[in-house]
Amino acid sequence: MGLTDFLLQTTPQALPRWYGRLAGRLLAGVYEEIADRIVREEDGNGRVLDFGTGPGELPVVLARHPGLRIDAVDVSDNMLMAAEDRARETGATRVRFGLVEGMALPFDGQRYDWVVSTLVLHELKERAADWLSLLFSRLRPGGTCLLLDLHRSLAVQEDVLLAALREEGLLPSWLPRGLLSKGWRALHSSLPTLDSVDALLGESRFGLAAGKRLLPLSVGSIEVQDALLWVEAKAPDVTIGPFS
Ligand SMILES: C[S@@+](CC[C@H](N)C(=O)[O-])C[C@H]1O[C@@H](n2cnc3c(N)ncnc32)[C@H](O)[C@@H]1O
Repeated sequence: MGLTDFLLQTTPQALPRWYGRLAGRLLAGVYEEIADRIVREEDGNGRVLDFGTGPGELPVVLARHPGLRIDAVDVSDNMLMAAEDRARETGATRVRFGLVEGMALPFDGQRYDWVVSTLVLHELKERAADWLSLLFSRLRPGGTCLLLDLHRSLAVQEDVLLAALREEGLLPSWLPRGLLSKGWRALHSSLPTLDSVDALLGESRFGLAAGKRLLPLSVGSIEVQDALLWVEAKAPDVTIGPFS
């Protein structure tokens, strides 16, 4: 059982709300950068899938661009409920939400210009390459998959990070300290690196990364260098077959 699954089972309502506040505060700038990148590439009009939307912070930012049509999916009902609430509160009414069941994506047959997935890769574990291949199958020819995750070599110690989060009021009082510490260590060891993501794409239908970079992340008063890994991979621009 992954950390998110475990926490969702123990705190089904509180976790999505807390996590949404955390991601919304720490990643707001990154979500905006993602939205700007898509809008620039698609001349303002594109269909986007957010895979593993969690409490729906990214779709809310994407939905500020009226030309983007957004589907947001997650494997967790509780996360989707929080995401739907967040979309309602912010007026992001054009976002469609759907549940991932087993290895099946909702919105059958829908193809996307962009598939985006933020902070999910590390949760996909041994099935990650299969998931990437599935995401590939939902891209239009020439479409782009953008994967963003925390980067394993992010140079920050647990106590420094927890202190910075506490300073920002982003640590929930209901989460015991020991669990946080255990969670941080489990999370850290599951995170991708530049090399591991290359290996993963190689196993999937993408084959190669089209671009990779590392970004800093500000947590209150500290800036953590190389904290985020941004990877883009492309579906080939040609449709192959059917052959007669
Ligand atoms: C750490 S949260 C990231 C949420 C959000 N994308 C963000 O930027 O904050 C990981 C999310 O991925 C979801 N997830 C994990 N495995 C999944 C899968 N196989 N299919 C869809 N969602 C998945 C979890 O339920 C959780 O909501």
